[in-house]
Amino acid sequence: MEAKIQSVRASAIEECSKLENLEQLQQLRVKYLGKKGEVTQLLRGMGSIPADQRPLVGQMVNRLKSELEQLYDQKETELEQQVQQKRMQMEALDITLPGRKPKIGSLHPLTLVLDEIKQIFIAMGYQVVEGPEIETDYYNFEALNIPKDHPARDMQDTFYITEEFLLRSQTSPVQIHVMEGQEPPVRIIAPGKVYRADSDLTHSPMFHQVEGLLVDQGVTFADLKGTLQAFAKALFGSETKTRFRPSYFPFTEPSAEVDVSCIICRGTGCRVCSNTGWLEILGSGMVDPRVLAKVGYDIDKVSGFAFGMGIERITMLKYGINDIRLFFTNDQRFLNQFK
Ligand code: PHE
Repeated sequence: MEAKIQSVRASAIEECSKLENLEQLQQLRVKYLGKKGEVTQLLRGMGSIPADQRPLVGQMVNRLKSELEQLYDQKETELEQQVQQKRMQMEALDITLPGRKPKIGSLHPLTLVLDEIKQIFIAMGYQVVEGPEIETDYYNFEALNIPKDHPARDMQDTFYITEEFLLRSQTSPVQIHVMEGQEPPVRIIAPGKVYRADSDLTHSPMFHQVEGLLVDQGVTFADLKGTLQAFAKALFGSETKTRFRPSYFPFTEPSAEVDVSCIICRGTGCRVCSNTGWLEILGSGMVDPRVLAKVGYDIDKVSGFAFGMGIERITMLKYGINDIRLFFTNDQRFLNQFK
Protein backbone atom coordinates (compact mmCIF):
# COMPACT_ATOMS: atom_id res chain seq x y z
CA MET A 1 0.00 0.00 0.00
CA GLU A 2 2.80 2.31 0.85
CA ALA A 3 4.38 1.69 -2.54
CA LYS A 4 1.08 2.41 -4.24
CA ILE A 5 0.83 5.74 -2.42
CA GLN A 6 4.37 6.63 -3.43
CA SER A 7 3.73 5.86 -7.09
CA VAL A 8 0.52 7.92 -7.13
CA ARG A 9 2.45 10.76 -5.50
CA ALA A 10 5.29 10.46 -7.98
CA SER A 11 3.08 10.49 -11.04
CA ALA A 12 0.90 13.29 -9.64
CA ILE A 13 3.97 15.45 -9.11
CA GLU A 14 5.53 14.52 -12.42
CA GLU A 15 2.38 15.29 -14.37
CA CYS A 16 2.02 18.57 -12.55
CA SER A 17 5.48 19.67 -13.63
CA LYS A 18 4.51 19.19 -17.27
CA LEU A 19 1.37 21.30 -17.09
CA GLU A 20 1.01 24.06 -19.62
CA ASN A 21 -2.29 25.72 -18.81
CA LEU A 22 -5.12 26.07 -16.34
CA GLU A 23 -7.41 23.63 -18.14
CA GLN A 24 -4.84 20.88 -17.86
CA LEU A 25 -4.42 21.71 -14.17
CA GLN A 26 -8.15 21.36 -13.65
CA GLN A 27 -8.06 17.96 -15.35
CA LEU A 28 -5.19 16.93 -13.12
CA ARG A 29 -7.10 17.98 -10.00
CA VAL A 30 -9.99 15.81 -11.09
CA LYS A 31 -7.71 12.95 -11.97
CA TYR A 32 -6.12 12.82 -8.51
CA LEU A 33 -8.35 14.66 -6.09
CA GLY A 34 -11.77 14.38 -7.73
CA LYS A 35 -14.59 12.15 -6.52
CA LYS A 36 -13.24 9.27 -8.53
CA GLY A 37 -9.67 10.53 -8.40
CA GLU A 38 -6.73 8.37 -7.60
CA VAL A 39 -6.16 9.74 -4.11
CA THR A 40 -9.84 9.37 -3.34
CA GLN A 41 -9.66 5.78 -4.57
CA LEU A 42 -6.79 5.21 -2.15
CA LEU A 43 -8.96 6.42 0.72
CA ARG A 44 -11.81 4.22 -0.43
CA GLY A 45 -9.49 1.25 -0.53
CA MET A 46 -8.72 1.64 3.17
CA GLY A 47 -11.25 -1.01 4.02
CA SER A 48 -9.06 -3.75 2.67
CA ILE A 49 -6.14 -2.76 4.86
CA PRO A 50 -5.52 -4.52 8.13
CA ALA A 51 -6.99 -2.47 10.99
CA ASP A 52 -3.69 -1.87 12.76
CA GLN A 53 -2.18 -0.29 9.68
CA ARG A 54 -5.16 1.84 8.86
CA PRO A 55 -4.34 4.94 10.93
CA LEU A 56 -0.84 5.13 9.53
CA VAL A 57 -1.88 4.58 5.94
CA GLY A 58 -4.77 6.96 6.40
CA GLN A 59 -2.37 9.58 7.64
CA MET A 60 -0.12 9.02 4.65
CA VAL A 61 -2.95 9.37 2.15
CA ASN A 62 -4.28 12.46 3.86
CA ARG A 63 -0.85 14.00 3.85
CA LEU A 64 -0.53 13.21 0.17
CA LYS A 65 -3.93 14.78 -0.41
CA SER A 66 -3.00 18.04 1.27
CA GLU A 67 0.42 18.00 -0.34
CA LEU A 68 -1.17 17.76 -3.77
CA GLU A 69 -3.75 20.39 -2.94
CA GLN A 70 -0.99 22.77 -1.98
CA LEU A 71 1.06 21.88 -5.04
CA TYR A 72 -1.88 22.43 -7.37
CA ASP A 73 -2.80 25.73 -5.73
CA GLN A 74 0.75 26.90 -6.15
CA LYS A 75 0.75 25.75 -9.77
CA GLU A 76 -2.50 27.57 -10.33
CA THR A 77 -1.04 30.85 -9.09
CA GLU A 78 2.01 30.32 -11.29
CA LEU A 79 -0.08 29.65 -14.41
CA GLU A 80 -2.32 32.63 -13.74
CA GLN A 81 0.72 34.83 -13.48
CA GLN A 82 2.00 33.46 -16.78
CA VAL A 83 -1.29 34.22 -18.46
CA GLN A 84 -1.28 37.77 -17.16
CA GLN A 85 2.31 38.32 -18.16
CA LYS A 86 1.57 37.12 -21.68
CA ARG A 87 -1.39 39.46 -21.95
CA MET A 88 0.67 42.39 -20.75
CA GLN A 89 3.30 41.61 -23.32
CA MET A 90 0.73 41.50 -26.07
CA GLU A 91 -0.87 44.75 -25.04
CA ALA A 92 2.43 46.55 -24.55
CA LEU A 93 2.84 49.92 -26.30
CA ASP A 94 6.26 50.85 -27.56
CA ILE A 95 6.43 54.41 -26.32
CA THR A 96 10.08 54.69 -27.31
CA LEU A 97 9.16 55.30 -31.00
CA PRO A 98 10.25 58.83 -31.83
CA GLY A 99 7.30 61.17 -32.52
CA ARG A 100 6.51 62.48 -35.96
CA LYS A 101 7.29 66.15 -36.31
CA PRO A 102 4.25 68.16 -37.36
CA LYS A 103 4.80 69.89 -40.67
CA ILE A 104 4.48 73.60 -40.12
CA GLY A 105 3.47 75.59 -43.15
CA SER A 106 4.92 78.93 -44.13
CA LEU A 107 3.64 82.05 -45.77
CA HIS A 108 3.46 82.09 -49.55
CA PRO A 109 6.07 84.37 -51.16
CA LEU A 110 3.29 86.54 -52.59
CA THR A 111 1.81 86.93 -49.11
CA LEU A 112 5.22 87.82 -47.70
CA VAL A 113 5.78 90.54 -50.29
CA LEU A 114 2.21 91.84 -50.05
CA ASP A 115 2.58 92.07 -46.27
CA GLU A 116 5.74 94.11 -46.73
CA ILE A 117 4.06 96.44 -49.22
CA LYS A 118 1.09 96.89 -46.89
CA GLN A 119 3.33 97.69 -43.93
CA ILE A 120 5.18 100.37 -45.90
CA PHE A 121 1.98 102.17 -46.88
CA ILE A 122 0.27 101.68 -43.51
CA ALA A 123 3.29 103.45 -41.99
CA MET A 124 2.62 106.35 -44.37
CA GLY A 125 -0.97 106.58 -43.16
CA TYR A 126 -2.76 104.56 -45.87
CA GLN A 127 -5.78 102.36 -45.20
CA VAL A 128 -6.04 98.89 -46.74
CA VAL A 129 -9.34 98.26 -48.55
CA GLU A 130 -10.71 95.58 -50.86
CA GLY A 131 -13.13 95.50 -53.77
CA PRO A 132 -15.07 92.87 -55.74
CA GLU A 133 -13.36 90.60 -58.29
CA ILE A 134 -16.47 90.50 -60.45
CA GLU A 135 -17.03 94.00 -61.73
CA THR A 136 -19.34 95.83 -64.05
CA ASP A 137 -18.11 97.39 -67.24
CA TYR A 138 -18.76 100.75 -65.57
CA TYR A 139 -16.31 100.34 -62.67
CA ASN A 140 -13.59 98.51 -64.58
CA PHE A 141 -13.70 100.89 -67.60
CA GLU A 142 -16.30 103.67 -67.98
CA ALA A 143 -15.71 105.38 -64.65
CA LEU A 144 -11.97 105.17 -65.28
CA ASN A 145 -12.31 107.24 -68.42
CA ILE A 146 -12.24 104.25 -70.78
CA PRO A 147 -15.46 104.48 -72.80
CA LYS A 148 -16.76 101.62 -74.93
CA ASP A 149 -14.86 101.34 -78.23
CA HIS A 150 -11.91 103.23 -76.71
CA PRO A 151 -8.70 101.65 -78.04
CA ALA A 152 -7.27 101.65 -74.50
CA ARG A 153 -9.51 98.66 -73.76
CA ASP A 154 -7.14 96.60 -75.86
CA MET A 155 -4.39 97.22 -73.28
CA GLN A 156 -6.01 94.56 -71.13
CA ASP A 157 -7.36 91.27 -72.46
CA THR A 158 -10.51 91.12 -70.39
CA PHE A 159 -12.55 88.06 -69.41
CA TYR A 160 -16.18 89.01 -69.96
CA ILE A 161 -18.94 87.15 -68.13
CA THR A 162 -21.75 88.97 -69.94
CA GLU A 163 -21.73 92.24 -71.83
CA GLU A 164 -22.03 94.04 -68.57
CA PHE A 165 -20.17 91.85 -66.05
CA LEU A 166 -16.52 90.91 -66.20
CA LEU A 167 -13.59 89.72 -64.08
CA ARG A 168 -11.79 92.89 -63.14
CA SER A 169 -8.64 93.33 -65.21
CA GLN A 170 -7.09 95.77 -62.71
CA THR A 171 -7.60 96.95 -59.13
CA SER A 172 -8.29 100.51 -60.33
CA PRO A 173 -12.10 100.09 -60.04
CA VAL A 174 -11.57 100.03 -56.26
CA GLN A 175 -10.56 103.71 -56.60
CA ILE A 176 -14.07 104.45 -57.82
CA HIS A 177 -15.80 102.41 -55.09
CA VAL A 178 -13.80 104.21 -52.41
CA MET A 179 -14.34 107.71 -53.82
CA GLU A 180 -18.07 107.07 -54.25
CA GLY A 181 -18.24 106.17 -50.57
CA GLN A 182 -16.30 109.03 -49.00
CA GLU A 183 -15.24 112.63 -49.34
CA PRO A 184 -11.55 113.58 -49.57
CA PRO A 185 -9.04 113.20 -48.06
CA VAL A 186 -8.61 109.66 -49.41
CA ARG A 187 -5.51 107.63 -48.74
CA ILE A 188 -5.89 103.93 -49.55
CA ILE A 189 -4.18 100.91 -50.99
CA ALA A 190 -6.27 98.09 -52.47
CA PRO A 191 -4.62 94.70 -52.92
CA GLY A 192 -6.35 91.83 -54.72
CA LYS A 193 -6.70 89.40 -57.58
CA VAL A 194 -7.09 90.57 -61.17
CA TYR A 195 -7.69 88.62 -64.37
CA ARG A 196 -6.45 88.87 -67.93
CA ALA A 197 -6.50 86.43 -70.84
CA ASP A 198 -2.75 86.14 -70.98
CA SER A 199 -0.41 83.27 -70.11
CA ASP A 200 3.32 82.78 -70.49
CA LEU A 201 6.48 82.73 -68.36
CA THR A 202 5.75 86.17 -66.92
CA HIS A 203 1.95 86.40 -67.33
CA SER A 204 -0.76 84.47 -65.55
CA PRO A 205 -4.53 84.65 -66.25
CA MET A 206 -4.96 85.46 -62.54
CA PHE A 207 -2.47 87.61 -60.72
CA HIS A 208 -2.35 90.19 -57.96
CA GLN A 209 -2.11 93.94 -57.94
CA VAL A 210 -1.88 96.61 -55.29
CA GLU A 211 -3.66 99.82 -56.16
CA GLY A 212 -2.86 103.09 -54.43
CA LEU A 213 -4.90 106.29 -54.33
CA LEU A 214 -4.39 109.58 -52.58
CA VAL A 215 -6.76 112.53 -53.03
CA ASP A 216 -6.57 115.72 -51.01
CA GLN A 217 -6.17 119.47 -51.39
CA GLY A 218 -3.01 120.58 -53.17
CA VAL A 219 -1.64 117.15 -54.14
CA THR A 220 1.03 117.47 -56.85
CA PHE A 221 3.24 115.27 -58.97
CA ALA A 222 6.02 115.97 -56.44
CA ASP A 223 3.93 114.13 -53.82
CA LEU A 224 3.57 111.20 -56.20
CA LYS A 225 7.32 111.10 -56.78
CA GLY A 226 8.24 111.44 -53.13
CA THR A 227 5.78 108.75 -52.06
CA LEU A 228 6.90 106.24 -54.66
CA GLN A 229 10.58 106.96 -54.07
CA ALA A 230 10.10 106.35 -50.36
CA PHE A 231 8.22 103.16 -51.17
CA ALA A 232 10.96 101.85 -53.49
CA LYS A 233 13.67 102.50 -50.91
CA ALA A 234 11.63 100.83 -48.16
CA LEU A 235 10.95 97.74 -50.27
CA PHE A 236 14.23 97.29 -52.14
CA GLY A 237 16.76 99.03 -49.87
CA SER A 238 17.90 102.59 -49.22
CA GLU A 239 20.41 102.51 -52.12
CA THR A 240 17.56 102.12 -54.60
CA LYS A 241 17.24 104.78 -57.29
CA THR A 242 13.99 105.54 -59.09
CA ARG A 243 13.24 106.75 -62.60
CA PHE A 244 9.93 108.17 -63.83
CA ARG A 245 9.17 107.57 -67.50
CA PRO A 246 6.29 109.30 -69.29
CA SER A 247 3.52 106.84 -70.06
CA TYR A 248 -0.18 106.64 -70.74
CA PHE A 249 -3.15 105.41 -68.71
CA PRO A 250 -6.67 106.62 -69.53
CA PHE A 251 -7.46 107.55 -65.92
CA THR A 252 -4.26 109.46 -65.05
CA GLU A 253 -2.80 112.58 -66.61
CA PRO A 254 0.12 112.92 -66.69
CA SER A 255 1.07 109.27 -66.33
CA ALA A 256 4.39 107.71 -65.52
CA GLU A 257 5.92 104.29 -65.30
CA VAL A 258 8.33 103.87 -62.43
CA ASP A 259 11.61 101.99 -62.71
CA VAL A 260 13.99 101.11 -59.90
CA SER A 261 17.71 100.58 -60.26
CA CYS A 262 18.20 96.84 -60.82
CA ILE A 263 18.08 95.09 -57.46
CA ILE A 264 20.32 92.29 -58.73
CA CYS A 265 23.22 94.25 -60.31
CA ARG A 266 22.54 97.61 -58.66
CA GLY A 267 22.44 99.28 -62.06
CA THR A 268 25.54 97.97 -63.80
CA GLY A 269 23.57 95.70 -66.13
CA CYS A 270 22.70 92.00 -65.88
CA ARG A 271 20.40 89.31 -67.25
CA VAL A 272 17.47 90.26 -64.99
CA CYS A 273 17.41 93.91 -66.16
CA SER A 274 18.35 92.95 -69.74
CA ASN A 275 21.52 95.01 -69.30
CA THR A 276 19.57 98.25 -68.91
CA GLY A 277 20.29 98.62 -65.19
CA TRP A 278 16.59 99.39 -64.59
CA LEU A 279 13.50 97.37 -63.66
CA GLU A 280 9.94 98.57 -64.24
CA ILE A 281 7.86 98.08 -61.09
CA LEU A 282 4.64 100.06 -61.45
CA GLY A 283 2.33 102.40 -63.31
CA SER A 284 1.21 105.72 -61.86
CA GLY A 285 -0.05 109.21 -62.53
CA MET A 286 -2.10 112.16 -61.39
CA VAL A 287 -5.76 111.14 -61.25
CA ASP A 288 -7.46 112.55 -64.34
CA PRO A 289 -9.87 115.34 -63.21
CA ARG A 290 -12.56 113.66 -65.32
CA VAL A 291 -12.41 110.64 -63.01
CA LEU A 292 -12.65 112.86 -59.92
CA ALA A 293 -15.56 114.81 -61.40
CA LYS A 294 -17.44 111.61 -62.22
CA VAL A 295 -17.55 110.60 -58.56
CA GLY A 296 -18.68 114.10 -57.61
CA TYR A 297 -15.45 115.52 -56.23
CA ASP A 298 -14.83 119.27 -56.62
CA ILE A 299 -11.91 119.37 -59.05
CA ASP A 300 -11.23 123.01 -58.23
CA LYS A 301 -10.42 121.99 -54.67
CA VAL A 302 -8.85 118.55 -54.78
CA SER A 303 -6.36 116.61 -56.82
CA GLY A 304 -4.74 113.23 -56.38
CA PHE A 305 -2.35 110.59 -57.57
CA ALA A 306 -2.76 106.86 -58.13
CA PHE A 307 -0.48 103.92 -58.76
CA GLY A 308 -0.77 100.22 -59.46
CA MET A 309 1.74 97.42 -59.22
CA GLY A 310 1.82 93.67 -59.89
CA ILE A 311 2.75 91.65 -56.82
CA GLU A 312 3.96 88.66 -58.85
CA ARG A 313 6.26 90.86 -60.88
CA ILE A 314 7.78 92.51 -57.81
CA THR A 315 8.18 89.15 -56.06
CA MET A 316 9.87 87.67 -59.13
CA LEU A 317 12.32 90.56 -59.25
CA LYS A 318 12.96 90.46 -55.52
CA TYR A 319 13.73 86.72 -55.42
CA GLY A 320 15.04 86.18 -58.95
CA ILE A 321 12.13 83.89 -59.95
CA ASN A 322 11.82 83.40 -63.70
CA ASP A 323 8.57 81.44 -64.10
CA ILE A 324 5.32 82.94 -62.78
CA ARG A 325 3.65 79.51 -62.67
CA LEU A 326 5.82 78.56 -59.68
CA PHE A 327 3.54 80.73 -57.54
CA PHE A 328 0.46 78.69 -58.33
CA THR A 329 1.59 75.06 -58.70
CA ASN A 330 2.25 74.64 -54.96
CA ASP A 331 5.47 72.67 -55.34
CA GLN A 332 6.80 72.39 -51.80
CA ARG A 333 10.41 72.41 -53.01
CA PHE A 334 9.70 75.94 -54.22
CA LEU A 335 7.55 77.09 -51.30
CA ASN A 336 9.91 75.73 -48.61
CA GLN A 337 12.60 78.16 -49.73
CA PHE A 338 10.62 81.06 -48.26
CA LYS A 339 10.51 79.70 -44.67
N1 PHE B 1 -4.38 99.84 -63.55
C1 PHE B 1 -3.15 100.02 -64.27
C2 PHE B 1 -2.77 98.69 -64.90
O1 PHE B 1 -3.24 97.67 -64.47
C3 PHE B 1 -2.02 100.48 -63.36
C4 PHE B 1 -2.24 101.88 -62.84
C5 PHE B 1 -2.93 102.07 -61.66
C6 PHE B 1 -1.75 102.98 -63.53
C7 PHE B 1 -3.14 103.36 -61.18
C8 PHE B 1 -1.92 104.24 -63.06
C9 PHE B 1 -2.61 104.45 -61.89
O2 PHE B 1 -1.98 98.65 -65.83
